[in-house]
Amino acid sequence: MRIYKAANYNEMSRMAANILSAQVILKPASVLGLATGSTPLGTYKQLIEWYEKGDIDFSEVTSINLDEYIGLSSTHEQSYHHFMHENFFDHINIKPGNIHLPDGTATDLEKECKDYDALISDTGGIDLQLLGIGTDGHIGFNEPSDAFEPLTHVVNLTDSTIKSNTRFFTDEEDVPKSAITVGIKTIMQAKKILMIVNGKNKADILKEALYGCITPALPASILQLHPDFTVIGDEEAFSSL
Ligand code: F6R
Repeated sequence: MRIYKAANYNEMSRMAANILSAQVILKPASVLGLATGSTPLGTYKQLIEWYEKGDIDFSEVTSINLDEYIGLSSTHEQSYHHFMHENFFDHINIKPGNIHLPDGTATDLEKECKDYDALISDTGGIDLQLLGIGTDGHIGFNEPSDAFEPLTHVVNLTDSTIKSNTRFFTDEEDVPKSAITVGIKTIMQAKKILMIVNGKNKADILKEALYGCITPALPASILQLHPDFTVIGDEEAFSSL
Protein backbone atom coordinates (compact mmCIF):
# COMPACT_ATOMS: atom_id res chain seq x y z
CA MET A 1 0.00 0.00 0.00
CA ARG A 2 1.31 3.44 -0.96
CA ILE A 3 -0.08 6.49 0.76
CA TYR A 4 0.33 10.02 -0.56
CA LYS A 5 -0.80 13.04 1.38
CA ALA A 6 -1.95 16.03 -0.64
CA ALA A 7 -2.28 19.50 0.83
CA ASN A 8 -5.81 19.97 -0.45
CA TYR A 9 -8.47 18.74 -2.89
CA ASN A 10 -6.82 20.33 -5.93
CA GLU A 11 -3.46 18.77 -5.21
CA MET A 12 -5.11 15.38 -4.60
CA SER A 13 -6.92 15.68 -7.94
CA ARG A 14 -3.75 16.65 -9.80
CA MET A 15 -1.79 13.74 -8.29
CA ALA A 16 -4.56 11.28 -9.23
CA ALA A 17 -4.80 12.72 -12.74
CA ASN A 18 -1.03 12.29 -13.09
CA ILE A 19 -1.29 8.59 -12.26
CA LEU A 20 -4.21 8.06 -14.68
CA SER A 21 -2.43 10.05 -17.35
CA ALA A 22 0.82 8.06 -16.92
CA GLN A 23 -1.22 4.86 -17.25
CA VAL A 24 -2.73 6.01 -20.56
CA ILE A 25 0.59 7.30 -21.91
CA LEU A 26 2.38 4.05 -21.07
CA LYS A 27 -0.48 1.88 -22.35
CA PRO A 28 -2.74 3.81 -24.76
CA ALA A 29 -5.27 0.94 -24.92
CA SER A 30 -5.70 0.87 -21.13
CA VAL A 31 -8.89 -0.34 -19.51
CA LEU A 32 -9.76 2.25 -16.85
CA GLY A 33 -12.19 1.43 -14.06
CA LEU A 34 -13.94 4.69 -13.23
CA ALA A 35 -16.02 6.06 -10.36
CA THR A 36 -18.63 8.78 -10.01
CA GLY A 37 -19.32 11.00 -6.98
CA SER A 38 -17.88 14.32 -5.91
CA THR A 39 -14.37 13.04 -5.13
CA PRO A 40 -13.17 12.36 -8.72
CA LEU A 41 -14.64 15.54 -10.24
CA GLY A 42 -11.36 17.47 -9.89
CA THR A 43 -9.40 14.54 -11.33
CA TYR A 44 -11.64 14.41 -14.42
CA LYS A 45 -11.40 18.20 -14.80
CA GLN A 46 -7.61 18.03 -14.72
CA LEU A 47 -7.53 15.19 -17.27
CA ILE A 48 -9.83 17.20 -19.58
CA GLU A 49 -7.46 20.17 -19.30
CA TRP A 50 -4.45 18.04 -20.26
CA TYR A 51 -6.44 16.46 -23.10
CA GLU A 52 -7.30 19.93 -24.44
CA LYS A 53 -3.61 20.85 -24.35
CA GLY A 54 -2.86 17.74 -26.42
CA ASP A 55 -1.02 15.96 -23.62
CA ILE A 56 -3.26 12.85 -23.39
CA ASP A 57 -5.04 10.80 -26.02
CA PHE A 58 -8.02 8.68 -24.92
CA SER A 59 -8.80 7.31 -28.39
CA GLU A 60 -7.75 3.76 -27.51
CA VAL A 61 -8.95 3.76 -23.89
CA THR A 62 -11.82 1.57 -22.68
CA SER A 63 -13.75 2.66 -19.59
CA ILE A 64 -15.67 0.44 -17.20
CA ASN A 65 -17.72 2.28 -14.60
CA LEU A 66 -18.29 0.79 -11.19
CA ASP A 67 -21.99 1.25 -10.79
CA GLU A 68 -25.36 2.68 -11.81
CA TYR A 69 -28.64 3.35 -10.05
CA ILE A 70 -31.51 0.99 -10.80
CA GLY A 71 -34.47 2.67 -12.44
CA LEU A 72 -32.71 5.73 -13.86
CA SER A 73 -32.40 5.93 -17.63
CA SER A 74 -29.07 6.94 -19.14
CA THR A 75 -30.50 10.40 -19.87
CA HIS A 76 -31.75 11.01 -16.30
CA GLU A 77 -29.80 13.94 -14.84
CA GLN A 78 -28.78 11.95 -11.76
CA SER A 79 -27.85 8.76 -13.59
CA TYR A 80 -24.19 7.84 -13.53
CA HIS A 81 -24.31 7.63 -17.34
CA HIS A 82 -25.24 11.28 -17.43
CA PHE A 83 -22.68 12.19 -14.76
CA MET A 84 -19.82 10.55 -16.63
CA HIS A 85 -20.75 12.13 -19.95
CA GLU A 86 -21.24 15.58 -18.49
CA ASN A 87 -18.10 15.55 -16.34
CA PHE A 88 -15.68 13.57 -18.47
CA PHE A 89 -16.56 11.61 -21.60
CA ASP A 90 -18.14 14.46 -23.57
CA HIS A 91 -14.91 16.47 -23.22
CA ILE A 92 -12.34 13.89 -24.33
CA ASN A 93 -11.82 11.71 -27.40
CA ILE A 94 -12.82 8.35 -25.90
CA LYS A 95 -14.80 6.31 -28.46
CA PRO A 96 -18.50 6.00 -27.50
CA GLY A 97 -18.31 2.26 -28.16
CA ASN A 98 -15.52 1.94 -25.57
CA ILE A 99 -17.60 3.46 -22.75
CA HIS A 100 -19.29 0.96 -20.43
CA LEU A 101 -21.66 1.38 -17.49
CA PRO A 102 -24.21 -1.08 -16.14
CA ASP A 103 -27.74 -0.52 -17.49
CA GLY A 104 -29.95 0.33 -14.52
CA THR A 105 -33.09 0.05 -16.66
CA ALA A 106 -32.44 -3.51 -17.86
CA THR A 107 -35.57 -5.65 -17.51
CA ASP A 108 -33.51 -8.73 -16.61
CA LEU A 109 -31.11 -7.37 -13.99
CA GLU A 110 -29.53 -10.74 -13.27
CA LYS A 111 -28.60 -11.08 -16.94
CA GLU A 112 -27.32 -7.51 -17.00
CA CYS A 113 -24.99 -8.33 -14.08
CA LYS A 114 -23.69 -11.49 -15.81
CA ASP A 115 -23.23 -9.64 -19.11
CA TYR A 116 -21.29 -6.85 -17.37
CA ASP A 117 -18.88 -9.37 -15.82
CA ALA A 118 -18.46 -11.07 -19.20
CA LEU A 119 -17.75 -7.70 -20.80
CA ILE A 120 -15.09 -6.89 -18.19
CA SER A 121 -13.35 -10.19 -18.76
CA ASP A 122 -13.59 -9.73 -22.56
CA THR A 123 -11.64 -6.46 -22.24
CA GLY A 124 -8.82 -8.42 -20.65
CA GLY A 125 -9.44 -6.92 -17.20
CA ILE A 126 -9.09 -3.51 -15.62
CA ASP A 127 -5.60 -1.97 -15.74
CA LEU A 128 -6.25 0.85 -13.29
CA GLN A 129 -9.28 1.14 -11.03
CA LEU A 130 -10.12 4.58 -9.65
CA LEU A 131 -12.12 4.47 -6.40
CA GLY A 132 -13.70 6.81 -3.89
CA ILE A 133 -14.91 5.63 -0.49
CA GLY A 134 -18.34 6.04 1.09
CA THR A 135 -18.66 7.32 4.66
CA ASP A 136 -19.77 3.78 5.59
CA GLY A 137 -16.71 2.28 3.90
CA HIS A 138 -18.38 1.19 0.66
CA ILE A 139 -16.46 0.93 -2.60
CA GLY A 140 -18.47 1.01 -5.80
CA PHE A 141 -21.82 0.27 -4.18
CA ASN A 142 -20.50 -2.69 -2.20
CA GLU A 143 -22.16 -1.80 1.07
CA PRO A 144 -21.18 -3.12 4.54
CA SER A 145 -22.36 -6.70 4.75
CA ASP A 146 -21.72 -10.14 6.27
CA ALA A 147 -19.85 -11.37 3.21
CA PHE A 148 -17.90 -9.91 0.31
CA GLU A 149 -19.94 -10.12 -2.92
CA PRO A 150 -17.47 -11.17 -5.60
CA LEU A 151 -19.28 -10.35 -8.85
CA THR A 152 -21.53 -7.69 -10.36
CA HIS A 153 -24.79 -7.66 -8.42
CA VAL A 154 -27.87 -5.72 -7.44
CA VAL A 155 -27.57 -4.03 -4.09
CA ASN A 156 -30.00 -2.31 -1.75
CA LEU A 157 -28.37 0.93 -0.71
CA THR A 158 -27.93 1.55 3.02
CA ASP A 159 -29.77 4.39 4.75
CA SER A 160 -26.46 6.21 5.17
CA THR A 161 -25.74 6.02 1.42
CA ILE A 162 -29.28 7.09 0.50
CA LYS A 163 -28.99 10.01 2.93
CA SER A 164 -25.61 10.99 1.58
CA ASN A 165 -26.89 10.84 -2.03
CA THR A 166 -29.88 13.03 -1.17
CA ARG A 167 -27.68 16.09 -1.78
CA PHE A 168 -27.92 15.40 -5.53
CA PHE A 169 -31.75 15.10 -5.65
CA THR A 170 -34.45 17.64 -4.86
CA ASP A 171 -36.33 15.17 -2.69
CA GLU A 172 -35.08 12.22 -0.58
CA GLU A 173 -38.05 10.26 -2.01
CA ASP A 174 -36.45 10.45 -5.47
CA VAL A 175 -33.13 8.91 -4.41
CA PRO A 176 -32.91 5.40 -5.88
CA LYS A 177 -32.86 2.70 -3.21
CA SER A 178 -30.94 0.13 -5.23
CA ALA A 179 -28.09 -0.04 -7.70
CA ILE A 180 -26.01 -2.37 -9.83
CA THR A 181 -22.38 -2.53 -8.77
CA VAL A 182 -19.34 -4.49 -9.80
CA GLY A 183 -18.26 -6.87 -7.06
CA ILE A 184 -15.26 -7.00 -4.77
CA LYS A 185 -13.51 -9.71 -6.77
CA THR A 186 -13.66 -7.60 -9.93
CA ILE A 187 -12.27 -4.59 -8.09
CA MET A 188 -9.52 -6.70 -6.50
CA GLN A 189 -8.61 -8.19 -9.90
CA ALA A 190 -7.72 -4.75 -11.27
CA LYS A 191 -3.98 -4.63 -11.90
CA LYS A 192 -3.68 -1.34 -10.02
CA ILE A 193 -6.04 0.43 -7.63
CA LEU A 194 -6.02 4.16 -6.93
CA MET A 195 -8.28 5.43 -4.16
CA ILE A 196 -8.81 9.15 -3.66
CA VAL A 197 -10.30 10.56 -0.47
CA ASN A 198 -10.95 14.07 0.70
CA GLY A 199 -12.68 15.77 3.59
CA LYS A 200 -12.90 15.40 7.34
CA ASN A 201 -16.09 13.30 7.10
CA LYS A 202 -14.01 10.47 5.57
CA ALA A 203 -11.14 10.62 8.11
CA ASP A 204 -12.38 7.98 10.58
CA ILE A 205 -13.55 5.48 7.99
CA LEU A 206 -10.32 5.90 6.01
CA LYS A 207 -8.21 5.13 9.09
CA GLU A 208 -10.26 2.02 9.82
CA ALA A 209 -10.18 0.91 6.17
CA LEU A 210 -6.40 1.20 5.95
CA TYR A 211 -5.37 -0.05 9.38
CA GLY A 212 -8.37 -1.88 10.88
CA CYS A 213 -9.55 -5.48 10.47
CA ILE A 214 -10.24 -6.73 6.97
CA THR A 215 -13.97 -7.34 7.06
CA PRO A 216 -17.02 -7.19 4.76
CA ALA A 217 -18.50 -4.88 7.41
CA LEU A 218 -16.08 -2.31 5.96
CA PRO A 219 -15.73 -3.26 2.29
CA ALA A 220 -12.80 -0.91 1.57
CA SER A 221 -10.69 -2.79 4.14
CA ILE A 222 -10.14 -5.58 1.57
CA LEU A 223 -7.96 -3.15 -0.41
CA GLN A 224 -5.20 -3.72 2.19
CA LEU A 225 -4.64 -7.06 0.45
CA HIS A 226 -4.22 -5.64 -3.05
CA PRO A 227 -0.62 -5.88 -4.30
CA ASP A 228 -0.69 -2.49 -6.07
CA PHE A 229 -2.89 -0.19 -4.01
CA THR A 230 -2.32 3.57 -3.86
CA VAL A 231 -4.25 6.02 -1.69
CA ILE A 232 -4.14 9.77 -2.20
CA GLY A 233 -5.91 11.86 0.41
CA ASP A 234 -6.01 15.48 1.42
CA GLU A 235 -4.95 16.64 4.88
CA GLU A 236 -8.49 16.45 6.26
CA ALA A 237 -8.96 12.87 5.10
CA PHE A 238 -5.75 11.87 6.89
CA SER A 239 -6.54 13.87 10.02
CA SER A 240 -7.40 10.75 12.07
CA LEU A 241 -4.20 8.90 11.16
C1 F6R B 1 -19.53 5.89 -7.20
C2 F6R B 1 -18.85 5.06 -6.23
C3 F6R B 1 -18.97 5.34 -4.76
C4 F6R B 1 -18.33 6.67 -4.38
C5 F6R B 1 -18.49 6.95 -2.90
C6 F6R B 1 -17.93 8.30 -2.50
O1 F6R B 1 -19.31 5.41 -8.50
O2 F6R B 1 -18.23 4.13 -6.60
O3 F6R B 1 -18.37 4.31 -4.05
O4 F6R B 1 -16.97 6.63 -4.71
O5 F6R B 1 -19.85 6.91 -2.56
O6 F6R B 1 -18.72 9.31 -3.07
P1 F6R B 1 -18.29 10.82 -3.03
O7 F6R B 1 -17.06 10.92 -3.89
O8 F6R B 1 -19.43 11.58 -3.61
O9 F6R B 1 -17.99 11.15 -1.60
